[in-house]
Amino acid sequence: MRIAVLGTGVVGRTLAARLDGLGHEVVIGTRDPAATSARTEPGGVGTPPFPQWHAEHPQVRLMSFAEVAAFAGLVVNATSGAAAMAALVAAGEAALAGKVLIDVSNPLDFSRGMPPTLDPVNTDSLGEQIQRAFPATRVVKALNTMNCHVMVDPGRVPGEHNVFLCGNDDTAKQAAAELIGSFGWPAGSVIDLGDISAARGTEMMMPLWLRLMGAFGHADFNVHIQHG
Ligand SMILES: NC(=O)c1ccc[n+]([C@@H]2O[C@H](COP(=O)([O-])OP(=O)(O)OC[C@H]3O[C@@H](n4cnc5c(N)ncnc54)[C@H](OP(=O)(O)O)[C@@H]3O)[C@@H](O)[C@H]2O)c1
Repeated sequence: MRIAVLGTGVVGRTLAARLDGLGHEVVIGTRDPAATSARTEPGGVGTPPFPQWHAEHPQVRLMSFAEVAAFAGLVVNATSGAAAMAALVAAGEAALAGKVLIDVSNPLDFSRGMPPTLDPVNTDSLGEQIQRAFPATRVVKALNTMNCHVMVDPGRVPGEHNVFLCGNDDTAKQAAAELIGSFGWPAGSVIDLGDISAARGTEMMMPLWLRLMGAFGHADFNVHIQHG
C-alpha cells in the first residue's frame, strides 16, 4: 500500500521505518524537504539529525506534506499536536478527501513549560478538530496512548496489553485495525471505543502516561484492560 507519514520526528520515523519494513511504499512528509534534508541539529529526545536517519532508510522518500498526501492511499498524522492542523492544511483538503487518516498525535501544549497541558481537552479533542476540519477524510484516532516504539513492536511490553482506536467510519477503523495488527498486535488487543469523540479520553491519558514514564524511568509500558 502507498502510505504517507506526516512528520519527521521520532514517531514519524519509527512508523515509516516499520511500514517500510512491512513492504509498503512509504513516503514521509515535512514542511520543506530541502531544509529537512540539510538539518545538522539533533531531532527531539536525542534522536539523530533527520538526514542521518534518512541515510539508513533511503527508500522512504521525503516530500512536502502536500506531495505525500497526494501520493498515498492512507495517511498517518505524526506531527506535533500544536502544528497538526497547519500540517494537514498544507497536506490539502482535496488530497486527503476520502482517505483513511490515522491520527497518532496528542495535543500537548508546552507553552507554559513542563508538564505540558492539553489543548483542546475535556469537551473537545484534536481528533475531533481534525475530523471537523476535514469532513471528507476518514479520521481514526489510534496508537496515541503509548510510546512509538511500542506502537510498532508491542512485544517490547510483556504480557497482554491494549491499543485503542475510535472514529466515525467503520471501514476506516477496520483498515486501521488491520494495519495495527500487522505491527504484531493480536486481534483481541485492539479496543474500538466508538466515534471520534472518544479521542477526548485517549488524549486525556497523556498526563497519566507522563507520570508513569517518570515512575518507571522508561517508556516500554502500556495499559491492559481487564473486564467482565
Ligand atoms: N513520542 C512518542 O512516542 C509519542 C507517542 C504517542 C503520540 N505522540 C505524538 O506524536 C506526534 C509526533 O511526535 P514527535 O515527537 O515525533 O514529533 P514532534 O516534534 O511533536 O513533531 C514533529 C513534526 O511536526 C511538524 N511541525 C512542527 N511545527 C510545525 C508547523 N508550525 N507547521 C507544520 N508542521 C510542523 C514538523 O515538521 P518538519 O518535518 O517540517 O520539521 C515535524 O514533521 C506528537 O503529536 C506527539 O504528541 C508521540
